[in-house]
Amino acid sequence: MAGRIPRQFIDDLAARSDLVEVVSSRLTLKKKGKDYWGLCPFHNEKSPSFSVSPDKQFYYCFGCGASGNALSFIMEHDHLDFVEAVEALARMQGLDVPREEGMQTSAQQQEARRQKEKQVQQYRAMQLAQEFFQQQLNKPEGLEGLTYLKEKRGLSEAILQTFGLGVAPDQWSALKDQLTQAGITEAQQLELGLLAQKEETGRVYDRFRNRVIFPIRNVHGQVIGFGGRVLDDSKPKYLNSPETPLFHKGQELYGLYEARKQPGRLEKLLVVEGYMDVVALAQQGVQGAVATLGTATTPEHLRRIFRLVNEVVFCFDGDAAGQQAAERALDNVLPQMVDGRQARFLFLPQGEDPDTLVRKEGAGLFEQRVNQALPLAEFLVRHLSTGLDLKQLDGQIRLAERARPKLQALPGGLLQKRLLASLSQMTGLEASSLLPVKSDPVQATTAPARHSAPQQGRPSGQQLTTLVEKLFRLLARYPELIQQVPEDLDFAQMEAADLDVFLPIINYLRKNPSITPQVLLAYWTATREGEALRVSYQRALELDKQAAALEVEAICSRLRSLTGEKDSQQRYQALLEAAATRLLSEEENRELMQLMQQLPPSHG
Ligand code: UTP
Ligand code: MN
Repeated sequence: MAGRIPRQFIDDLAARSDLVEVVSSRLTLKKKGKDYWGLCPFHNEKSPSFSVSPDKQFYYCFGCGASGNALSFIMEHDHLDFVEAVEALARMQGLDVPREEGMQTSAQQQEARRQKEKQVQQYRAMQLAQEFFQQQLNKPEGLEGLTYLKEKRGLSEAILQTFGLGVAPDQWSALKDQLTQAGITEAQQLELGLLAQKEETGRVYDRFRNRVIFPIRNVHGQVIGFGGRVLDDSKPKYLNSPETPLFHKGQELYGLYEARKQPGRLEKLLVVEGYMDVVALAQQGVQGAVATLGTATTPEHLRRIFRLVNEVVFCFDGDAAGQQAAERALDNVLPQMVDGRQARFLFLPQGEDPDTLVRKEGAGLFEQRVNQALPLAEFLVRHLSTGLDLKQLDGQIRLAERARPKLQALPGGLLQKRLLASLSQMTGLEASSLLPVKSDPVQATTAPARHSAPQQGRPSGQQLTTLVEKLFRLLARYPELIQQVPEDLDFAQMEAADLDVFLPIINYLRKNPSITPQVLLAYWTATREGEALRVSYQRALELDKQAAALEVEAICSRLRSLTGEKDSQQRYQALLEAAATRLLSEEENRELMQLMQQLPPSHG
């Protein structure tokens, strides 16, 4: 890695490469009519539904929906990151990848290379750990676990295999010994969360002991973490890998890789709560179940889901906790409901979860429930009008108040129109008072005429102001959440009110991410910024950190999409630059790929 790859080169490379050649060097294609067909490499299938169009230089799988161009094919197929895929494609054409000079010192280059090697080692260690746990199933040490899985939970050999389940023996260093033998250092095992450490003595020991093990895989099938369940009623019932360089709980969906591997077209994903729910549904033949890992559904989860399918069904317990979880999922999904997407809500009978229910009723009846799940619009209206008497003026006003933020969270589109129509009827209020027209008070008063031309499509200042204010309040209370605010989110460019107060604080926090609210307040004492911080802090005092973190994430994703389109050129360049100095995350690599396909080719 050396310097940034010029964008021009990437565009030329993509334009010049032949997708048919790239694909047929990796799988067998047959020509039928204008297009080529083969067995899809991204899911299991018996008859070909993977099509390659030489005209469009685009592939599409009618089975699993995988699609893209030559670069994305190489990325997905060879498990490469964006830069590596560019290099591989260039190699096929006998080209050297040019690099822009002066971007990077040799120390940075070395650091990037070191990071990459480290990551390869980490994946290898996780893979070895998974194999170790799986092998225990056939050993005396794993017999109790195997019996639990098969007899207590009714799992078949085949399903154990599909999900790569295993057992951690009841020993303090069985895994550690095995991995150490394979050349994985203790420090590496600690960093990957495979070992835990006693605080007082510093002694290290296997984190997972005497538990059945669920390996958690990323979309490429690489193992990134584990969940382990006790065999009895002891606590904690499930132990999960901690956050590690490979494993980010709020982004991963258990079962997604396996769901994509299933034969047949994936039409929708079903979001359930537990590991066992995913596995049991798969065994009974209900496809497409994935689980969040003990967290609420995050915006990141939803982005992943909607990249694959257009429909999501959230599945909740019928109790109060389930209702709360549903409300959270609702808030997170609203900003992503562009036309063509569907979200529905399924509430199970009290005391049941998908695992118990599908065993009782079988796949057919369970699928009927899924098909009858409440559409988002209905769930939303029902939720908003809970406890209100809509015959009374007071009830109607309260409904309007509750509805406003939800309507505003929706991207414009059919769903917004439809909800607006029915809520306006229910409240007797005009649509315009439920959803303020996108006027822009800030710009109207402050922006001089020179601003007026490029303003079309610019996000509403009011919306931005509200979001930025909220973010400010959350950060005043939990300054460390600044770490969840993407570095490239450029507040200076946003036409929000009160930026003069907000910007200095954001910049300060970005430099001091681990500051406490008290020190933050003390530092800014007797300034305008400090006063704003104090007020915000007071207002957010009762706020729970977990909820705040989720909200920060949602706000940032909303800000990103509001300011998004006009910035994607910049973002593309920024990512290319970043790729020159550090390893991009899986998410960033995908984003780069998508931007490359969306943006018109560069000139000059
Ligand atoms: P549940 O407590 O609902 O368990 O946790 P379950 O999935 O029905 O499990 P079984 O059927 O008793 O085996 C749902 C999910 O919440 C997370 C896990 O991801 C679990 O699958 N969880 C639960 C934890 O992370 N830790 C716990 O102690 C409990
Ligand atoms: Mn269960």
